[in-house]
Amino acid sequence: MKRSKFIKTCLIAGVAGPTIISMMEGCSSVYYANVSISGKTMTIKRSEFIEIKKEETRQRTFIAVRNDAFPFPICVYKFGENEFVALSLICTHQGCELNPNEYTLTCPCHGSEFSNKGNVMEGPADKELEEFKVTSDDQNIYVHLN
Ligand code: FES
Repeated sequence: MKRSKFIKTCLIAGVAGPTIISMMEGCSSVYYANVSISGKTMTIKRSEFIEIKKEETRQRTFIAVRNDAFPFPICVYKFGENEFVALSLICTHQGCELNPNEYTLTCPCHGSEFSNKGNVMEGPADKELEEFKVTSDDQNIYVHLN
């Protein structure tokens, strides 16, 4: 590589690098929680909703669960100290796995969009997401699988 091309490449990387890193940090990633399952009850520690990042503690607004004990992933949204909504991540249109975000769940197959309470916001899906009963105590959240 010629010296001038090398310098030009380094300059572009130097300018674009921080921008790309900044954009990536802005994207929310899905956190998959550790759970225990007994019968049809999934136990999630409340601490799974706590995120420690750069010496800062924050509350996660949602977590996802993928476990061999059941055939579909689940997303649990936290709306308050004792207010949770647990949703199946299976699209009600044709069964693709949804991508959960803070406020919505989107389907990569045909573009359906659901609210974080499982309601259809954008078709082609026309049925709300399957929701599971959630209870809690001081330590844990319990998702009661159907
Ligand atoms: S399977 Fe989700 S929109 Fe079709």
